[in-house]
Amino acid sequence: MRQRNIKNLEERISENSRLLIDDPRGCRGHWNEIFGNSNPIYLEIGCGKGKFITGLAAAFTGRNYIAIEGQSSVVLRALEKAEEQQLGNLRIFIDYVNDLSDYFSHGELSGIYLNFCDPWPKARHAKRRLTYHTRLKNYMQVLGEDGFIEFKTDNDGLFEFTLEEIRTAGLEIAEMTRDLHGGPVGEYSAISRKFMTEYEEKFSSQGKNINFVRI
Ligand SMILES: C[S@@+](CC[C@H](N)C(=O)[O-])C[C@H]1O[C@@H](n2cnc3c(N)ncnc32)[C@H](O)[C@@H]1O
Repeated sequence: MRQRNIKNLEERISENSRLLIDDPRGCRGHWNEIFGNSNPIYLEIGCGKGKFITGLAAAFTGRNYIAIEGQSSVVLRALEKAEEQQLGNLRIFIDYVNDLSDYFSHGELSGIYLNFCDPWPKARHAKRRLTYHTRLKNYMQVLGEDGFIEFKTDNDGLFEFTLEEIRTAGLEIAEMTRDLHGGPVGEYSAISRKFMTEYEEKFSSQGKNINFVRI
């Protein structure tokens, strides 16, 4: 996600840091204590400016949400949105994550959202794609028994790659569509289409089909 240089970035992040987690590795196994309740916890990796996750957190106050974003210039907007809406059920941390077990214990999460991840188009970079099969298996380690992964993308090639990776990882597809906003929707896609990300708004307004899969 491209972002212009932001003046006084660190200062502005610190002014909006009430929901920012400085030491996410130290929260491993204790996230429910951080939220102060036993509600289920859902994670978005690469939240960008946070439209999707703040929308979910505002709509489902009986659930907890964590957003991760590697780029601090982008995450500032997510922090500001969360602060403006006083979202007590959302926490955000800044990092480029690789192994989720560094941050979460086995079964600590109830769901993981991957939205419009970077496609890494060169074949030699396939392992960097967030839906590479070893990453999917890694996500499963921190999900509970009924845990799910949901993935949305405008990139048809990345979507086909992901379907193949789901098979390679030995996982089952619960629901999928290649046209989230145009075609018939199922139980899960009906919810997902109500919570658009910044990229999703941009691409679907241009008439691009949006792919969705839930594992
Ligand atoms: C193409 S943008 C999409 C942003 C947002 N999800 C949306 O749909 O509008 C992908 C974002 O994921 C972030 N990202 C990529 N890999 C990441 C990782 N391993 N951990 C955290 N953030 C990551 C990037 O910094 C970028 O902001």
